[in-house]
This record gives sequence, structure tokens and C-alpha cells, in this order.
Amino acid sequence: MTDIARGLRRVQDAPVEGKSVLVRVDYNVPLRAGTVADDSRITASLPTLHHLMERGAKLVLMSHLGDPEGKVVPELRLDPVADRLRDLLRRPVEKLTDCIGEAVSKAVGKGKPGDVFLLENVRFHPGESANDADFARSLARLGELYVNDAFAALHRAHASTEGVTRFLPSYAGMLIQKEIEALSRLTDRPERPYVAIVGGKKAESKLGALRDLLGRVDAILIGGGVAFTFLHATGHEVGASVVDASIVEEIRDVVRLAGEKKVRIVLPCDVVAARAVSASAETTTVPVDGIPAGWIGLDIGPKTVELFRREIARARTVVWTGPMGAFELEPFSQGTRAVASALAHARAFTVVGGGETGEAVVQMGEEHGISYISTGGGACLALLRGKSLPALEALRG
Ligand code: 3PG
Repeated sequence: MTDIARGLRRVQDAPVEGKSVLVRVDYNVPLRAGTVADDSRITASLPTLHHLMERGAKLVLMSHLGDPEGKVVPELRLDPVADRLRDLLRRPVEKLTDCIGEAVSKAVGKGKPGDVFLLENVRFHPGESANDADFARSLARLGELYVNDAFAALHRAHASTEGVTRFLPSYAGMLIQKEIEALSRLTDRPERPYVAIVGGKKAESKLGALRDLLGRVDAILIGGGVAFTFLHATGHEVGASVVDASIVEEIRDVVRLAGEKKVRIVLPCDVVAARAVSASAETTTVPVDGIPAGWIGLDIGPKTVELFRREIARARTVVWTGPMGAFELEPFSQGTRAVASALAHARAFTVVGGGETGEAVVQMGEEHGISYISTGGGACLALLRGKSLPALEALRG
């Protein structure tokens, strides 16, 4: 057993037979035109749901979707998720219009063994993110036991992930167990060279992770939006690319630390830039110092792809989080496509973390070549950098 799994109470050991079980899942999935665009997170929750249903439990599922900041946002209702879940389970799922209150208790109270309820987006209530004890207690009243299978939300100490564990006997679901087992290959003596690839939009949210990863990996390849703040901080002219000026000093510090620890930070040497963030905008591929004034860098260029490909080919362990560019727009998808393909053909143990990066890999058709695709973004990164996850700690005992 890995260190991270030690002491976890597992759903397989829970006396769930005939009980009402409150289950936290992470159905924070991308929606397009009112339907679920990628159902990986829903599919990943099915083993736990089947386990519970086969034992005659009544399931009360809860999840967040997006960040409605404590208010009801109609576009973030969970109805499209309920539709997909019904298809996947091939049985009725009663979608409720709230997650607490009398009407919810009444509906759940009428349920029979094997019935499945899906509560409304828990983040419609401010008590969720505030981890309010009264809100957590109200949720807890809907079950006799609590199972957390929301791996992707384990880094959040919210009412539905951490608060409820104070009121109900609590267990880790099968997805959480599977994620921990796979990711432990990266935390417990990974095979070297160990390469991390970091992309995505927000540089600020990645800084802490980059700092912690310096103590664990041999090289960090930086692409995506994050790269432009790095390039700017290291003296490059980046045109109108998005740069977070508030963290330039911290980035210089990370680069200096990397030098001290002999970890190579590999930045793009060329980029695809455009006049606007649009699939029909005029584009140009230029060296990093050649981005014309007013143009925006939106993808890594072909020379960078080659550079990254060579690093990936040499590695024995690779973790990738954050796309290499604005991959949802075809002209800026080549970098992400090439990195997905390089990972799929690598001889390394390869892990992809993050809902969006996982989605990109599936969109590129490379998912079968990847050793493990985590359902978590922030949670996966937190675990890999050795952070303690509050909602996971609450399941030990
Ligand atoms: C995720 O998508 O990483 C998880 O669902 C957590 O979402 P959050 O960052 O909005 O808390």
C-alpha cells in the first residue's frame, strides 16, 4: 500500500447494504450547447455507483459545476449531467432542483433501495465553499453514510467534501483509490528522468506547483499561456500576449531556484502568434523574440515541439498538465496535438492531469497511448507536489 492510501476508510469495507448513502462525485464537466461535452468524470464514478447499487443502497449524489459563487446560475444546473448519467447507468436518475430543504428531504425519503437521486449544484449555496457547518449538517441529513469519490475536488475543504465528514461515517470511493494508486508511481520513487510539462492559461495558479516540483523532477517544459509570463520575465519581447506582470519577480525566483537544484526549465523557442484570439485571424510562426507588436502568442511553434519531443523521448516518467495553446481553436491546436502524440508514443510512464488536458488528449484521439489520465487538475497537482488534501485527510481513521 502506498503512503497516501494508508489509513483510508474504503467504500468496500462500509456497511452500505440497504442504507441511504450520500455520495460526493465530481461532475464538474464541460458543457457545450446544453449537453455534456466530455463525460470522462461521470464514467469514472460508475464503479462506485454500481458497487453501492448492487448492495441495495439508495444513492444521493451531489456535485458542483463551475463556480456560481453561492448563487443560482441557471446554466450551471446539473440537468444535462443527470441526462448523461441516466444513459450511462441505464436506469432512472431523479434530478432534484435543490440540494437541501424540505422538498429534497421528502423526495429522498420516498426513495427505495437502488434508487438514484442527483442533488442540484451544491455551489448554488454560499455555505458550500465557506464550509459552513449548518449547510454541511443539512447535506448530511440526506444519508446514513458518506462516500467521497470526487477525486478532482479533494483539494477543496468545502461542506460537501470535508464538512459532511464531521456528521457521518465517511469512506473513500473507488475512483479516489484508483487515482491514488496510479499517481503514487510519481510520488514514490519515480523512474528518472522525470519530466513535468506545464501549460494552461493561469501562470499565477501554477507558481506554487512549479516551486514544489523543482524538488521532485529533472526538467520542466513550459508551454501554453504560462510560457508567455515566463518569457517576459526572462527578458523576451512577447507582443500583446497575456502576461501576468504581478508575478514576474516570483518567476525569476523559480528560475534561479531551478538553476540551484539543477532542474532544467525548458521554455518555447518559437510560437504561433495571431492578430486576435480567433480561428479566422491571420497567424504567423516566429521565434520567441520575433512576436510582432500587437500580436498574441497562442501556441508553441514547430521548433519547440521538436525540443519538447526530444525531452519526452528521453524521459522515463512524464506528467503533463495544461494545454500548450488555445487548442480549442484549430490554428492553435498543433502544439497540444504534438505533445499528446509524443506522450502516447513515449516509453515512459505517462500521466495526464487536469480535466482540460484530459479532454484535449481525448479530442486528439491519443488517450489509449497514455498510461494514466487523471480526472483531477488542481487535486492531481497538489498530490504530486506533496501537499496534504483536506478532503482526503478527512477519510482516514
Ligand atoms: C476541477 O475541475 O479541477 C475540480 O472540479 C475542482 O473545481 P474548482 O477548481 O472549481 O474547485
